[in-house]
Amino acid sequence: MTLDVPTIPVPQRPIYDDALTGLRRSPKTIPPKYFYDDRGSRLFSQICEVPEYYPTRTEALLTRENISDIAALIGSHCQLVELGTGDGFKTRLLLQHLHDLAAYIPVEISRTQLDRCVGELSAEFPDLEILPLCTDYTGDFQVPKNGCEGRTTFYFPGSTIGNFHPSEAGDFLYKIAQKAGPRGGLLVGVDLVKDRTILEAAYNDCAGVTAEFNLNLLRRLNRECGANFDLNTFRHRAVYQSEKHRIEMQLVSTCDQRVDFPTESFHFRKGEAIVTEHSYKFTIDRFATLAEEASWRTRAIWTDDRQLFSVWYLERREKTKNYLEPQRARRKH
Ligand code: AVI
Repeated sequence: MTLDVPTIPVPQRPIYDDALTGLRRSPKTIPPKYFYDDRGSRLFSQICEVPEYYPTRTEALLTRENISDIAALIGSHCQLVELGTGDGFKTRLLLQHLHDLAAYIPVEISRTQLDRCVGELSAEFPDLEILPLCTDYTGDFQVPKNGCEGRTTFYFPGSTIGNFHPSEAGDFLYKIAQKAGPRGGLLVGVDLVKDRTILEAAYNDCAGVTAEFNLNLLRRLNRECGANFDLNTFRHRAVYQSEKHRIEMQLVSTCDQRVDFPTESFHFRKGEAIVTEHSYKFTIDRFATLAEEASWRTRAIWTDDRQLFSVWYLERREKTKNYLEPQRARRKH
């Protein structure tokens, strides 16, 4: 089956400019979106299966246990827009229970991942209208309307919202609310604050898959940017910074060294870290406030017995007379 997949052009070679910009900072950083080349995406799927990484399993369980309520809230004749194609398991569960869905729109930056997802789902759901969109969903994109009169529900699982800086998370949720339109919805997975031992184990799995995922970033910079990182001289570290409610992933230089890119070199001291990812964890109250300020109303929250993870159904709040968008209003002060 050949599918005509609209591709919104992603700027050419942003990885080179982004890597250099990040490595000039103090502390040095590399944006986490570059984890996901083909190997990185495969390693992330493996992370989702290691025993210590509870988010994927727990979110799947919550979705399965509450699927009827979730489907009732989403309703019929809507179009479902998934941001990132993910592991596919939770998507399948949703698609099986959402009757009369007008369309399913997966938005994914990786063409390979998108093709795989569309191929599998169109075989499993031959009557479902699938309108794939190949683009970076953090950038600007238009949701195809395709004559659909029903509401638009966004699906953003996996607690990927935690990989945004808190202020960016608010802006992103607000942007999605605008795209969702009147009566629009958002089904979102949110990881919760918990004991540091559980959190640090989840990002330092015994099999070393997360370490490999982290180091793969340097492998990618060597391949795509002509850098010469020696992977044997960097080690993975993930620590929970409780005052900031976040896991910080780092690649720590094990010696004093210089790394060359074609146009610039960077010096590393022994013990110096490149920050590669922040994964913010939320309390129910904190996420509720974030969502509210981004013009969403909470309709339902599902959590597991151990309060490890949460799944939320949010509905766009409609503007009333004299309505001041809280987030924008706050920024004026
Ligand atoms: C994609 N994202 C929600 C994952 C997380 O938990 O922040 C990425 C990840 N990094 C290390 N393990 C998983």
